[in-house]
Amino acid sequence: MTAAEPDGRGRPGAPTLGVLTVGQLVRLCGIAGLGPADASAYATVLVEALGPVAERPLDLPPLHRTFLSDDHTPVEYSLSFVPDGTPPSLRVLLEPGHAAGGNLARNGRLGLEVVRDMALRWNISTDRLADLEDLFFPSAPHGPLALWCALELRPGGVPRMKVYLNPAARGENRSAETVREALRRLGHRRAFASLPAADGFPFVALDLGDWESPRVKVYARHDGLAVAEAPALCRMDPGPGAAEVEQFLRTAAGLGPDPFGTGVRQADAPARITGRPVLTCHSFTETDGEGPSGFTLHVPVRGYARHDGEALDRAAALLHHYGMDATALLRAPAAITARRPEDGVGLLAYLALAHQHGRPPRVTAYLSAEAYGVHPARAPQPTGVTTAG
Ligand code: TRP
Repeated sequence: MTAAEPDGRGRPGAPTLGVLTVGQLVRLCGIAGLGPADASAYATVLVEALGPVAERPLDLPPLHRTFLSDDHTPVEYSLSFVPDGTPPSLRVLLEPGHAAGGNLARNGRLGLEVVRDMALRWNISTDRLADLEDLFFPSAPHGPLALWCALELRPGGVPRMKVYLNPAARGENRSAETVREALRRLGHRRAFASLPAADGFPFVALDLGDWESPRVKVYARHDGLAVAEAPALCRMDPGPGAAEVEQFLRTAAGLGPDPFGTGVRQADAPARITGRPVLTCHSFTETDGEGPSGFTLHVPVRGYARHDGEALDRAAALLHHYGMDATALLRAPAAITARRPEDGVGLLAYLALAHQHGRPPRVTAYLSAEAYGVHPARAPQPTGVTTAG
């Protein structure tokens, strides 16, 4: 229980973070084709993973300024689409140590406890994580996160689990070294050398449990990326073609021939992603030899759209291009919020294109919970501007 503040905020009866996110999750489960039994099982999982923060009234500010989402909600959803006509898979990303607040050492310790409890319950091994603990959980960790975890909500009530670790935990200047050492310990000695040049390594992610071939994934940041430079970032072989990568980036970032519907063709302008940066992710599996077996391009669409209506249009266009059904995505906003997509920007946080050896491509939409705030829609761009901030 959280005590009421003197000004009446946090009064009993105010809606809580748990109530809000459980409602969102249950409605999204319906959209993703999960039955009521799975939905209620996963609702319980979410509340337990959030712990005491689930009880926190929404009229109190977030417990700490997690950068998991722009408004500091410690929960984010994603829908991942494949071209086979099945409903998208629903995932939920959360900060399991959020209740411990912004002290990274405490946040990480609590997060690890929560992750281990969940793993135990589903008989998921956390050995791979234990092997890396000294790298990512030093006694005096540096920012910007301690530990996040994602659950892929499969039918049957047993999720797949991923953890997101912070390569800067031992210092930003040691991030590359930390990534290289983590890869080495997991048996990927030459993996680091195969990665493209990067401006930073925001996350290392580990698949835990019942995955066909568990991956370690390395996320890289690319500041001021020119669209034409994007294809060369992919080091997976064979991987997506150059035209495909460019087209995805252009569409998601609104850098088409006429990105803002101004009637002015801007295809010849140098297209650069100068605002919120693009991330790439390479994944490595034990069975797949030396090079990366997967590549994902993450485009922060919210930095390049006036409002979510525009962002959703781009997402739907991309899904159609890949032969995927956009219905579930177009229903998702109403499962999360009562506001109209046109009345804010950031509900759709990222659009991602994922390629993995032996699998069809996937398109993933990341959806914010917006428990604490909505970024206002932007004014239309003046003509001649190629990128938004
Ligand atoms: N909010 C952070 C960011 O924008 C982290 C994050 C949340 C993220 N969901 C993501 C990063 C999906 C990439 C893809 O970077």
